[in-house]
Amino acid sequence: MSNTIKSEGYKKLLDCKEQIREKTAFIPKAAIVLGSGLGGYAEQMKVEAEVAYSEIEGFPVSTVAGHDGRFLFGYIEGFPVVMMKGRVHYYEGYDISDVVLPIRLMGMLGAKILILTNAAGGVNLDFQPGDLMMIEDHISIAVPNPLRGKNMEELGVRFPDMSQVYDRSLCHIIEKIASEQQIDLKKGVYIQCSGPSYETPAEIRMFRKLGIDAVGMSTVCEAIAANHMGMRVCGISCITNMAAGILDQPLNHKEVQEAADRVKDQFEQLVTGVIGKIKEI
Ligand code: HPA
Repeated sequence: MSNTIKSEGYKKLLDCKEQIREKTAFIPKAAIVLGSGLGGYAEQMKVEAEVAYSEIEGFPVSTVAGHDGRFLFGYIEGFPVVMMKGRVHYYEGYDISDVVLPIRLMGMLGAKILILTNAAGGVNLDFQPGDLMMIEDHISIAVPNPLRGKNMEELGVRFPDMSQVYDRSLCHIIEKIASEQQIDLKKGVYIQCSGPSYETPAEIRMFRKLGIDAVGMSTVCEAIAANHMGMRVCGISCITNMAAGILDQPLNHKEVQEAADRVKDQFEQLVTGVIGKIKEI
């Protein structure tokens, strides 16, 4: 088979890209994904263009209440970024390759750097709700790999290395800015579970034994897809609750959103500081 024959997945990406290019010529240098409860960060941005996911034919449209689905193109600290206000989750029922479509799209629109954010449950007993955790590494075995299927040769190799998914220099920047802002930044390993149910206490005990620090329902598949196509990735989790079974209380989505809301100023300052520094590299 000739190399010039594009996979269906890649054709879909090109088609989505074209639809966005009909609306804006903006070229972002970095992409940011806003996690649950962190969507307000979009207000920090000098917006040049907006494209709602629902305007893009073929795009997986988010269904969760409180997830406003749109790309925002504009400037933070004078740096050109594209922001996903509302992400696509695997638990909504999409194929995992559709879940990472927006990430690939942002890469194809020009973003070389990806900043992932999320709300997560704390598995590490030293964490507290309200902590911010820099993702040092991840465990992906609880969800399908987004690269499964025909490899998109246009984006990357069949068997990509994952020994340093979270870019060292971006991690240094996050640590430096957190220290300047006197944030007690936690660091650790994040696992993506499929959701939408929260984990059981037994699962969380198992995760702790495996060296996992935080658990959520996103991010890992996005980091893999971005890494595959050569984007430099970093991630920050907002620990919104202690994971199941740690405290003698049930988990609920409202608590997650409220906790994210409480730390959003600190979180937003950190992300803004990081972007301000990234623009120097
Ligand atoms: N588990 C999974 N996802 C989450 C959690 C959790 O405890 N908190 C926020 N997102």
